[in-house]
Amino acid sequence: MDWGIKNRMSQLIKSNGRCMYLPIDHGYFQGPTSKLERPGETIKPIIDYADALFCTRGVLRSCINPENSKPIILRVSGGASMVGKDLANEVLTTSLEEVIRLNASGVGISVFIGSDYEKETLHNLSKLVDEAERYGIPVMAVTAVGREMEKRDARYLALCCRIAAELGARVVKTYWCENFEKVTNGCPVPVVMAGGPKTNSDDEIFEFVHDGIQKGAIGVNLGRNIWQNENPVAMIRALRAIIHENASVKQAIDLFNTVKDEKKK
Ligand code: 5RP
Repeated sequence: MDWGIKNRMSQLIKSNGRCMYLPIDHGYFQGPTSKLERPGETIKPIIDYADALFCTRGVLRSCINPENSKPIILRVSGGASMVGKDLANEVLTTSLEEVIRLNASGVGISVFIGSDYEKETLHNLSKLVDEAERYGIPVMAVTAVGREMEKRDARYLALCCRIAAELGARVVKTYWCENFEKVTNGCPVPVVMAGGPKTNSDDEIFEFVHDGIQKGAIGVNLGRNIWQNENPVAMIRALRAIIHENASVKQAIDLFNTVKDEKKK
């Protein structure tokens, strides 16, 4: 691995081998997602607890202070929307020149395996890896499932993660599922977990993140279940404790309640 890519990877994966990414890229296909209408305001209280921010160039330029920023993973795929014909019909949206100008530490792209656009999105990934690696920029592949959440079983996600790694992704982002070790065992590069739509149970989030870390994930790229939570600071701090301090689910819940109560005082 050459110096540039090693340096960027070390910004994205901390010396303990773990990572806590904060995604605020949802607007690229969802528009002004609830609680993300003003991304700069949303992240203010929580950004200190993240290791990197996942966003598009538009949000980066207009909402993020360039003088005091966390490492950036730039989302560079898009071109489809929630109200369009097919969410999977994505293209590369941002040039490598722009990625370098914005000083991103990595780039992120979705692949939609099993969809009508499987080949096109995998081709986008391969092309991006070829171009980004030329400049020492690591690629994070996002194994997207669109609206078909029922696809999220270990067999399918293991297949997606492995294909993304085979095509050159340095990190793969996927969903947690039962038997998550099947996903991590079959993937030769680090795996991070997304959160998915906001759940009604905070404990459920702590449980799956803890389980995924025990089974080999290196961290999370988790958004809505943090910034749509009524207590986003408590949430991100509790998740960070699981990831970076090997906290148990109970310790995470205790920390969540302590921080929540402190904030209320
Ligand atoms: C959206 C994404 C998000 O970064 C990813 O889904 C993580 O966010 P969340 O935890 O809210 O699901 O790729 O396109």
